Amino acid sequence: MAKEKLIVLYGGRSAEREVSVMSATNVVKSVDYARFSVQTVFIASDGDFYRGELFDAVPDAPLLDNASALANRKISPALLTELGDVVFPVLHGPQGEDGSIQGFLEILKMPYAGPGILSAAATMDKLVSKEIFAQIGIPQVPYVGITDGVISDEKIAEINEKLTYPVFVKPANMGSSVGISKVNTAQELLSALTEAAKFDSRIVVEEGLINPREVETGALGNGDAVEIAGPGEVANSGNFYDYDEKYKNDALTIDVPAHLPEDVAAAIRAYAAQAYKAVAGTGLSRCDFFIERATGAIYLNEINAIPGFTAFSMYPLLWENRGLTVREQITRFVELGKARFAERERHLAN
Ligand SMILES: Nc1ncnc2c1ncn2[C@@H]1O[C@H](COP(=O)(O)OP(=O)(O)O)[C@@H](O)[C@H]1O
Ligand SMILES: [Mg+2]
Repeated sequence: MAKEKLIVLYGGRSAEREVSVMSATNVVKSVDYARFSVQTVFIASDGDFYRGELFDAVPDAPLLDNASALANRKISPALLTELGDVVFPVLHGPQGEDGSIQGFLEILKMPYAGPGILSAAATMDKLVSKEIFAQIGIPQVPYVGITDGVISDEKIAEINEKLTYPVFVKPANMGSSVGISKVNTAQELLSALTEAAKFDSRIVVEEGLINPREVETGALGNGDAVEIAGPGEVANSGNFYDYDEKYKNDALTIDVPAHLPEDVAAAIRAYAAQAYKAVAGTGLSRCDFFIERATGAIYLNEINAIPGFTAFSMYPLLWENRGLTVREQITRFVELGKARFAERERHLAN
């Protein structure tokens, strides 16, 4: 049987480009080469697509991450249809996990691994996702949303009235803590809002928990058939687990599974499944929670549609702990993507 050609799409325009390169490196190392050959396609920071290497076995050289030397490899994005059978967008952040690349692949009529347009778009926007989680009654910290980039006196008054400091100010559509600040007093609020507004006109301001435990679960499956692995805990995250800490701090440790009583772990998995279904989850996602140390209260923080997939990332570790190797995880992502593609084609044909 001829091998299936898997396109691994990585890099991208977002600030999380470097993480994408690390995640894609792990994917390319772990793929089942008895079943797949891998065509890499790199998206440079300006959004241009470049044809990378074609691998039939685990590569020993690092993946392309500087497109400038390879100007002759620039391709039209639509050429993906000729380069492979199925795509795994290993992209994080805006234009990678917000539904745009997913929509493009649907227009190209290509099956792809990972979340579909709706779940990617809904979970990328922290405000939309919070409103959905509120609808289905999943506990979250109190929050106030700004939807038009306007930092009015009325909004500031509303924040001061509804929330207790410290608060976190977050652009709705970023990721990896870009543009996020922790605000300890009302005096610092305006500058934090102004900073967040540079990144997005939609902003979430939420009540801050004091040094909460941070636990994360791995969702795998299409829709109601989802299974949840974990939770695992991100330990030593300090008070504010920011972009550099997430990827560069050696002190950060990952505990899989998290040391929690089984009923607490089960409650977290149940919330994760509920939240994933509510955002029309498909393929995979990581659902992240806080546990308040003083009270033990559980709060859903966010869903990451395409979570970090490096050799040290929570998602692959959670599923390895459940007995699924990284190789098997990738094969499963592809199978789930193909199943969803077949279903969509059936619906479109009617
Ligand atoms: N309400 C909160 N209370 C306490 N810590 C928070 C809160 N919101 C965010 N944080 C801290 O900031 C980090 C990044 O926030 P998060 O909403 O997860 O954004 P990102 O999309 O960048 O991952 C969290 O992992 C946590 O360490
Ligand atoms: Mg997060």
